[in-house]
Amino acid sequence: MLKNSATQYGTVARFLHWAVFLLFVFQYVSANIMTNLARDKTLFGLTQGHYYDWHKSIGLTVLGLAVLRWLWRKMTVLPDWAPTLSQAERVISHRNEMLLYGCMVLLPVSGYVFVMAGGFGVKLFGLHPLPNPIGKQESLAALALVTHIVFGYAAVVFIAWHVGLGLKHHLFDQDRFLNRMLPFKRQ
Ligand code: HEM
Ligand code: HEM
Repeated sequence: MLKNSATQYGTVARFLHWAVFLLFVFQYVSANIMTNLARDKTLFGLTQGHYYDWHKSIGLTVLGLAVLRWLWRKMTVLPDWAPTLSQAERVISHRNEMLLYGCMVLLPVSGYVFVMAGGFGVKLFGLHPLPNPIGKQESLAALALVTHIVFGYAAVVFIAWHVGLGLKHHLFDQDRFLNRMLPFKRQ
């Protein structure tokens, strides 16, 4: 079942959800490596420059997937809330999901603006240099960098809440909550 139904997330929503999750994990790992690795050192055979290239390229891929995901969310019905969620949990979860979408867009956009306005550029997957439509603007680069770092930390908090709520329901309340989104499970 590709589309969502009243009771289930469909294959497309599940695929996009977990693809974005894995790419987020990659983003945090690569960010840590590239900002700590010395220029003349390598890790797993890759230089700091490689990690920067991949962080930027995967980040832009997340932006593409986030837009697709949002469009898909608007095109297909959203499953009803799990009956075991309290009214307060529904309100907070909805707001938190919107904040997560905000991060999925703002993180790549601020990263992109930072590297373009900072004059560093993007070499897509280490192969294709992208044109720079912004040009060097130091104050814009500084603003974009602060945004990138602040939302980088904020996203961890929103994700922690989201995962915490899911695990609490699934493991402690044992209401099979995660089956709504896990790749090969149905309710
Ligand atoms: C980068 C990390 C994550 C992001 C950005 C994220 C984002 C979202 C968003 C926006 C939704 C709403 C449905 C949609 O529009 O696709 C959702 C649903 C869901 N997510 Fe995540 N998620 C992440 C990680 C996780 C993890 C690690 C788990 C499991 C522990 C999880 C479990 C769920 C579940 C069970 C739902 C369905 C919730 C419901 O229907 O009430 N998510 N997620
Ligand atoms: C979902 C997408 C992204 C996530 C989750 C993410 C996350 C992060 C994090 C956590 C950091 C470390 C911040 C710190 O110093 O504490 C970082 C740094 C950085 N990111 Fe991203 N990023 C994303 C997308 C992008 C994109 C699309 C670009 C550029 C096209 C980019 C360029 C950079 C650069 C250049 C740095 C190093 C900044 C510095 O010099 O400290 N990021 N990112």
